[in-house]
Amino acid sequence: MNTSKLLLLPGDGIGPEAMAEVEKIVGFMNDEGVASFATEKALVGGSAYDAHGEAIADADMETALAADAVLFGAVGGPKWDSVPYDQRPEAGLLRLRKDLKLFANLRPAICYPALADASSLKPEIIEGLDILILRELTGGVYFGEPKEIIDLGNGQKRGIDTQVYDTYEIERIARAAFELARTRRGKVTSMEKRNVMKSGVLWNEVVTRVHREEFSDLQLEHMLADAGGMQLVRAPKQFDVIVTDNLFGDMLSDIAAMLTGSLGMLPSASLGAEDPATGKRKALYEPVHGSAPDIAGQGVANPIAMIASFAMCLRYSFQKVREADALEAAIAEVLEKGIRTPDIMAPGATRVGTVEMGAAIRSAFRGKL
Ligand code: NAI
Ligand code: MG
Repeated sequence: MNTSKLLLLPGDGIGPEAMAEVEKIVGFMNDEGVASFATEKALVGGSAYDAHGEAIADADMETALAADAVLFGAVGGPKWDSVPYDQRPEAGLLRLRKDLKLFANLRPAICYPALADASSLKPEIIEGLDILILRELTGGVYFGEPKEIIDLGNGQKRGIDTQVYDTYEIERIARAAFELARTRRGKVTSMEKRNVMKSGVLWNEVVTRVHREEFSDLQLEHMLADAGGMQLVRAPKQFDVIVTDNLFGDMLSDIAAMLTGSLGMLPSASLGAEDPATGKRKALYEPVHGSAPDIAGQGVANPIAMIASFAMCLRYSFQKVREADALEAAIAEVLEKGIRTPDIMAPGATRVGTVEMGAAIRSAFRGKL
């Protein structure tokens, strides 16, 4: 079996507590002979700043670039509020995203049957939900130039952001969407606002062409992003993969995430371009939540978002689909048994901490491998 290089960046706050549970799963998979992971661990965020004055060290950036996948916990906290802007904890994550060229952000929204009644939507609307929002992460209005506030000199100022997308940026995110859909239910919904935005017209054109030329066996539908937001809340199960730009993706992925519940449950992945020589993609996997300073160090953080991020890593970086399915099924089984951390506690359920939740998931995972 080829050995895969995994870089673990636990970070700050609850990051290390959640990451410890993933480390145990990695160790377990190595011991069982179902994987061969060589792991390295490094500091990132505030803890890295405390140790050497930077949110991520150059040497650790090199390790990240050489790794087959990076697992990231969370960074930040009030302790580092007054740190200079360039060294602030988030700078570590931004540098990773930039240097690894992670242009595709994957945010699944999955409804675990045991949590269907915890949603703000009716259970029948979200029961069995399994959709994937693919957000373009390195272009669009967050990065386009000009980007400034100018003084108009008449007591007025003007704030300017510019939405820019080039053909190649749309092509690569479209291809990623179709490739993901091929491993799922084969349907892509592309969302933009071509009715009012030129970049939306181009987005629509390019996605349509990539579909026609390379993926015509799959289903493509176009939806205006505002209507898409309504449909996500009205009937989310109609979707499989939704592909959209940076700004709409930011909002739509947050909306989709909250269809199914707690921040402690939500994984994500960010993928870079495929290396034509090796066929491998740079990739970073992280929970959606932050460092949760309010509960850090108490042993009560929900490790599921971090563990589910590792399941995505197994699926997308290592093609270990069976193991990823097994790990996700283990999470579902533990929830079904009523084992809950405080953030997802329900009447009659058994309240556990981070370590117990991790152990329960490992034990269920063992039974499914
Ligand atoms: P947060 O996600 O850290 O916490 C929001 C709320 O959700 C808190 O009440 C927290 O206790 C709870 N929560 C989050 N994850 C949980 C888990 N796994 N289990 C149980 N409860 C959980 O967001 P917040 O409070 O806005 O930010 C705290 C710090 O984290 C800030 O410094 C922020 O900049 C940073 N942050 C870092 C991110 C990252 O590393 N990618 C993302 C978001 C925030
Ligand atoms: Mg957001």
